Amino acid sequence: MSLLKLQHIMSSQIAKRAFLTRPPEPPAEVLINDPLQSIFVGTTKIFKIPFSWSFANLTNPHISVVGITGAGKSYFVKTLLIRASYIWNTNAIIIDWAGEYKAWVKQTGGTVVAFAKGDYLNILDLAGMKPLDRVKQIMNSLDILTDIGTYPEQKRLTEEAIEQSYINLGFRVSEKPQQGKDAPTLKNVIALLEEKLQEGTYEYPAELENSVYRLRQFAREGEDYFARKSTLDLARIVDSGLVDIDLSALPDERFRTLAALFILQTLKEKMRTQGFSETKGLKALVVLDEAWKVASDEKSDAITIVREGRKYQFGLIVASQNPTDINEAIFSNVGTSFILRIRFEKFLNYLQGSLNFSNFIRSEISNFGVGQAAVEMAFQTALRFPQTFVLERIHGEEPLYVYTIDLSDVLTQSELSAGLIQRDYQFEKEELKNKFIEFNISTENIDLLFSRMDSQGRSMKVVDFLHELRDSGVPNSIVVSFLKSMSLDDLLITRIISK
Ligand SMILES: Nc1ncnc2c1ncn2[C@@H]1O[C@H](COP(=O)(O)OP(=O)(O)O)[C@@H](O)[C@H]1O
Ligand SMILES: [Mg+2]
Repeated sequence: MSLLKLQHIMSSQIAKRAFLTRPPEPPAEVLINDPLQSIFVGTTKIFKIPFSWSFANLTNPHISVVGITGAGKSYFVKTLLIRASYIWNTNAIIIDWAGEYKAWVKQTGGTVVAFAKGDYLNILDLAGMKPLDRVKQIMNSLDILTDIGTYPEQKRLTEEAIEQSYINLGFRVSEKPQQGKDAPTLKNVIALLEEKLQEGTYEYPAELENSVYRLRQFAREGEDYFARKSTLDLARIVDSGLVDIDLSALPDERFRTLAALFILQTLKEKMRTQGFSETKGLKALVVLDEAWKVASDEKSDAITIVREGRKYQFGLIVASQNPTDINEAIFSNVGTSFILRIRFEKFLNYLQGSLNFSNFIRSEISNFGVGQAAVEMAFQTALRFPQTFVLERIHGEEPLYVYTIDLSDVLTQSELSAGLIQRDYQFEKEELKNKFIEFNISTENIDLLFSRMDSQGRSMKVVDFLHELRDSGVPNSIVVSFLKSMSLDDLLITRIISK
């Protein structure tokens, strides 16, 4: 009886009915942590509890961050790194695929290591490791990057040649090297294989030729970034505060991937040799943003770090717009996942399948604005409360100006009530501005567009918005590409244009 009555009272808030059977957020004592040992992230959506992140009770300090472009992943990562450095003096190493952290790192007084002409990283450098261990790592990278795995004979030849190149310089392959002794380079390895080919006594010359060819891709003049004596000292960067390793100038994805794998291997070694630390907090955070190959391949050290990082107080942050690019072993093992705006059903299915959140959370995620996030934490002990909750928004240092383009004037009544088509699109100011610039709209017109939107509470109906664009002299074709870039479907675009 009483239950029915209660349901009646709350019938206008059906979504909240679940509260009766299950609390919608973890209890405050889990969300609020010692401010000197945790990082404030934002306020929870329902009970407005200030959530500060601490990994003390979590399975590990690793974090995954997913969300569409512009959802606020990089902004969150920056916020986290800055606060971790205040609180724990955490060092940060950003493996910067597109060079998007560079300006920020400079501003904050960090170090930018940019690959440009004249910068080299010798992938045979040992950083205190036994040569045999490095050989294994190099073979592993080649396995991820090339087809060597399908040619056992070439694999053997290559491995032997790398080992031999160390021996030729007086290294003992199963012993740690002396300090300051220069390692061989990929060019030495190639020379050894070529010599063998010249000798003409080897039974399968084609195998030798192919082995040489494969390595040469990384040693061509002008592209020999990883085939010369290092000019960059990776061993030091773990303790150097905030470091951005900008890979954007490398020729292509393979080079960036090779660099990222090598950096992760070196960091992992460093993590192991530094051993346990009695200090509280996090020693280092390594950021992999949009490095899909490195995050997806099961042979990548990203996975080793996720498995072993906790005991070394070494955290990995993996960010991606495509959650299926993050290997399941990373995804299901990280201590915390931050899920920002996600639109594709396919991605939502993957996330829900792997994190097990409710349909309520799922629908929240697909309706998030910039900076809003669902958080999922894996606690060390089994706890009886929902582990996924929603943050009003990630609270960073900069103000958030959200602009809305409202589609309700072009949708029919039934489309609006069915809710299958997104009715408004939100953009953060910088993001919208960049879009305008990308579509060649003049600075003057951009200012005009913003002041129009500002005068209407930062929101505009899509038809009015397009009128404004046209009045600013933007041609129809660009208007169409603009709408396409919002991932509107073609039929809807035609309908909007015809209005
Ligand atoms: N929580 C937030 N508060 C204020 N501004 C934000 C927030 N999240 C994102 N932004 C802004 O939104 C824009 C897009 O964010 P960004 O982090 O670059 O997205 P992503 O990395 O997911 O593509 C940036 O201009 C950023 O400053
Ligand atoms: Mg980003």
